[in-house]
Amino acid sequence: ARKIIIDTDPGQDDAVAILLALASPQEIDLLGITCVAGNVPLALTQTNARRVCEVAGRPDVAVHAGCDAPLQRPLITAEHVHGKTGLDGPELWDPTMPLAATHGVDFIIDSLRREASGTVTLCPLGPLTNITAAFQKAPDIVDRVQEIVLMGGAYFEVGNITPAAEFNIYVDPEAAAAVLTSGVPVTMMPLDVTHKALATRARVEKIRALDTKVARFTAEMLDFFERFDVEKYGSEGGPLHDPCVIAYLIRPELFSGRTINVVVETTSELTLGMTVADWWGVTDRPANAQFMGDLDADGFFDLITTRLARL
Ligand code: BDR
Ligand code: CA
Repeated sequence: ARKIIIDTDPGQDDAVAILLALASPQEIDLLGITCVAGNVPLALTQTNARRVCEVAGRPDVAVHAGCDAPLQRPLITAEHVHGKTGLDGPELWDPTMPLAATHGVDFIIDSLRREASGTVTLCPLGPLTNITAAFQKAPDIVDRVQEIVLMGGAYFEVGNITPAAEFNIYVDPEAAAAVLTSGVPVTMMPLDVTHKALATRARVEKIRALDTKVARFTAEMLDFFERFDVEKYGSEGGPLHDPCVIAYLIRPELFSGRTINVVVETTSELTLGMTVADWWGVTDRPANAQFMGDLDADGFFDLITTRLARL
């Protein structure tokens, strides 16, 4: 099984990504979860991550709180998409499993130093603050990372928080730029992919019909999560962005993309956080990321549904 750290800001779609990982021990060895401020402030994202582990019956998972604000900017949140709690939909409770004592950034550093070099994959599902903070604090770990598989960015689908930028990149563009110039192999799941991963009514009902605690919790989250995109964009369901990262680790053949150059805009006010992706190879800038463009959406939802049934 591939060793991973999930770095996350739950978020309903982050929650489904965590559940998918917990349901897939054959392929995924989850070393721990690090939380970051993003969709909602850190106090809520770390609480939500623990709620998700508790629903899955896994209070043993190490959940660490990381950075509470982007490297250089004030935090921008997305309650308009995720609700006040970040996990609106199901009835929520106060989690009883403890928060791990170590700061998320130190957990990333310690894990990469402890495990054999080249065997740990980082899976960021939110702003890239924790990852870059760890790289800055401990430059020796950068070369030890196997791969970074992240949700963020957009090319043809352009933006969802501004006309030019995707949320995770926009919130901490300096951190994202640092990741893309770190030299670590990066695979990106941009909106171009995730806007095809739509939790349609039929797909949500299939999950609900599993009739387990996890399935009901997931369906109730997705009932809430779809509203925003359906109302705003007229799409057939909410896009399950973050689970694409975990699904890729389990079944890479569901996805296709190109290895290209991607640069993050960090100075322009108009296009801040834009991922300028050289999809057509019109520059001679060297490739620094595998930028995904398409997925088999039915295969993706079959995977999620069959795996959630195991929890
Ligand atoms: C990303 O932003 C968040 O709202 C989602 O959880 C996802 O990680 C999509 O732009
Ligand atoms: Ca997220």
